[in-house]
Amino acid sequence: MPSDAKKKKDAAKKEAVKQLHNKHSKAGKNNKLSNENGVKQDEENHLVIEEIDEAAKLLQQIEIDNAKARSVAGSLGSHPKSMDVKVNQLTVTFHGREIVTDTTLELNRGRRYGFIGLNGSGKSTLMQAIYNREVPIPEHIDMFLVSREMPASGLSALKAVTEVDEMRKNLEKQAEELASCSDDESQEKLMDIYERLEEMEADLAEVKAAAILHGLGFTRQMMLKKCKDFSGGWRMRIALARALYLKPSLLLLDEPTNHLDLDACVWLEGELAKYKRTLLIVSHSQDFMNNVCTNIIHLFQKNLVYYGGNYDTFIRTRIELLENQMKRYNWEQNQLQHMKVHLFIIK
Ligand SMILES: Nc1ncnc2c1ncn2[C@@H]1O[C@H](COP(=O)(O)OP(=O)(O)OP(=O)(O)O)[C@@H](O)[C@H]1O
Ligand SMILES: [Mg+2]
Repeated sequence: MPSDAKKKKDAAKKEAVKQLHNKHSKAGKNNKLSNENGVKQDEENHLVIEEIDEAAKLLQQIEIDNAKARSVAGSLGSHPKSMDVKVNQLTVTFHGREIVTDTTLELNRGRRYGFIGLNGSGKSTLMQAIYNREVPIPEHIDMFLVSREMPASGLSALKAVTEVDEMRKNLEKQAEELASCSDDESQEKLMDIYERLEEMEADLAEVKAAAILHGLGFTRQMMLKKCKDFSGGWRMRIALARALYLKPSLLLLDEPTNHLDLDACVWLEGELAKYKRTLLIVSHSQDFMNNVCTNIIHLFQKNLVYYGGNYDTFIRTRIELLENQMKRYNWEQNQLQHMKVHLFIIK
């Protein structure tokens, strides 16, 4: 027999679920009422989503071809549930050429890594391999890669940003399904989902997206303009806005500042500098790297070499390292010279 306390607790829980359910279904109804042509709007959304799919398909094909040309070997060394990732014995080849050989990839939560290396050394290739999970990244680490602009679709800039919120939509769908089940387990799960939805500020989605787009230089009118009416540079900003809206556990940015003006660069710098999760970023701007990065990963001679601190610290450390190597080399040459002279005298 359940105790009185348990009965009271269960009743309170059920009441809480009922209240949350009412709140969320009311919000759903209001959304429908506020949109007089609900059905028409849905049809329009479908059309633009089809359009975006078409544009994305072509780019996806290129990615698939590239993925076929990559081969990746490596084993997960960190705990499978950990938010820190360590991959040992990582070897990546692209079109038969080795990008990294038997190296270690280490990405720890809360660190913002600047990823540097010579042009063509394979930074973008490695980022793609990470994003595609060809490198063994645990499933619970959600990722987002910005490496190119948003496809030229009929979606408005604002919609393109909020549309990315797949996770929220999945939760809403699950909640809808669970709402019709009355068993305790479903109700408990439903309450949990509602709590998560509240945390994600579902009702504030547009406000959040608009604030990000504003930071990246979009006016109110521009936010309502279709993606296809923007230049590549502006569509790159939309892609960036999607990433900042989602705030994934591992954010991969491949040269995000290329199309940004100074104001947008400064704003992005500020946003990334307070990024609490893991960031891996390729940028040719030293100032940007200095203001954002806590660590540097140097892709050097097919190896990943790790340095603490920002870009300037990396340069200082590297100069010291090279100076020490040079001193050692000179000392060895001196020793050799002495030995030769010594041998000559003995002869
Ligand atoms: N289609 C291809 N066929 C053969 N080799 C390719 C192909 N595409 C790229 N590569 C080579 O793969 C290597 C890695 O390229 P990747 O773009 O990853 O380098 P990167 O470090 O990102 O360069 P960058 O700093 O210029 O962006 C390069 O040496 C490049 O020449
Ligand atoms: Mg690149």
